[in-house]
Amino acid sequence: MPLDRKAPNDLNAFWMPFTANRQFKKNPRMFVGAKDMHYTTSDGRQVLDGTAGLWCCNAGHCRPKITEAIQKQAAELDYAPAFQMGHPVAFELANRIIEIAPKGIEHVFYTNSGSESVETALKLAIAYHRAKGQASRTRLIGRERGYHGVNFGGISVGGIVNNRRHFGTLLNGVDHLPHTHLPEQNRWSKGQPEHGAYLADDLEKLVALHGAETIAAVIVEPVAGSTGVILPPKGYLEKLRAITKKHGILLIFDEVITGFGRLGAPFAAQYFDVLPDMMTTAKGLTNGVIPMGAVLTTADIHDAFMQGPENLIELFHGYTYSGNPIASAAGIATLETYKEEGLFERAAAIAPYWEEALHSLRSSRHVIDVRNMGLIGAVELDPIAGEPTKRAFSAFLAAYDRNILIRTTGDIIAMSPPLMIEKHHIDTLIGTLADVLAKLD
Ligand SMILES: Cc1ncc(COP(=O)(O)O)c(C=O)c1O
Repeated sequence: MPLDRKAPNDLNAFWMPFTANRQFKKNPRMFVGAKDMHYTTSDGRQVLDGTAGLWCCNAGHCRPKITEAIQKQAAELDYAPAFQMGHPVAFELANRIIEIAPKGIEHVFYTNSGSESVETALKLAIAYHRAKGQASRTRLIGRERGYHGVNFGGISVGGIVNNRRHFGTLLNGVDHLPHTHLPEQNRWSKGQPEHGAYLADDLEKLVALHGAETIAAVIVEPVAGSTGVILPPKGYLEKLRAITKKHGILLIFDEVITGFGRLGAPFAAQYFDVLPDMMTTAKGLTNGVIPMGAVLTTADIHDAFMQGPENLIELFHGYTYSGNPIASAAGIATLETYKEEGLFERAAAIAPYWEEALHSLRSSRHVIDVRNMGLIGAVELDPIAGEPTKRAFSAFLAAYDRNILIRTTGDIIAMSPPLMIEKHHIDTLIGTLADVLAKLD
């Protein structure tokens, strides 16, 4: 008998990630289909996707080119090992990524997720210095409120307390820069906030404390997403780049959400015109359709490993699914969709309308801040005293009942719609959210 996918009768076995499992399973919210800007729910409603899934379906849902590429590849070459073997699709995708990457980024190392991209970049940073004869450079520096996935390296350099506090002592030799959220100075900022570039100077303090010769890398999200959207103040990223360069420290941009058009440029590195040594990516690389990530590096990083006898493996790192053929085919079709439909340019063109619409919520009930950049928006709510997160989660549930999908972290509503969004979708999304907020306790 065919499985009736619309009516699962036992929700017990699937231990859901980052979910209040017991609450969810009492009153589940199920998507059973998707097309372009909308999800279809199990009760037959069309829900407008205000979050591109989890910041990943940048081209919208069930896009034909991507679907067809996956189907074709699955029938032609389903899997091939990437250790000591190759297949053309992975090489082609790497070249296509480099075509849109910032000038100076020349190599691609494949992973399967943002978390794995982060682990890979951190390992590369330490191994790079060792290959260059500076084995004492092992220290890693992240940032308060940073999100770099859920593996041990990522939560160690990350700065979201609930993601860290339950998991022991984590990696040692890690420090954190201060976050750049300055609500008193930067409230209601449109685009880059004015104040806070000086926060990058804390890196000099860490250098003075530990000695530059012990520090391998600094990793930051150019725009922090998962913590509830924190934007880089004007001049901040430039300063970080200057200080890291001065001290021979690598700079890693975690572009898992900012990559592939979210800011209206291919990557945040281009949007801000700051070139890191490595960029971690995933999500929009395959439109979220097939798991895949990639670390992008300069030639300097890559070439440091290309030494010694040619018959020996240069880097003892990789995944069974690195460069998986079906994921690679999905990646190529995704990049072609972005290009053919001019989606990065569309995102840039509609960003001012998005900004105005979002900031119209400034006068809505409970709203204490609105901030935005590219096709990212955050609406911060005043928390209910003694019950943090409750108000925003109630807004999420009410929004879902009203057929819009938003996302919440703490008491912040974060939105990141597919780049194919049109003005009327923005009107629906923000108009419905305004109604939801007006009725919220
Ligand atoms: C900046 C950043 N890094 C890493 C990750 C982890 O990616 P994944 O969930 O694919 O492991 C995320 C996910 O949201 C992210 O936003």
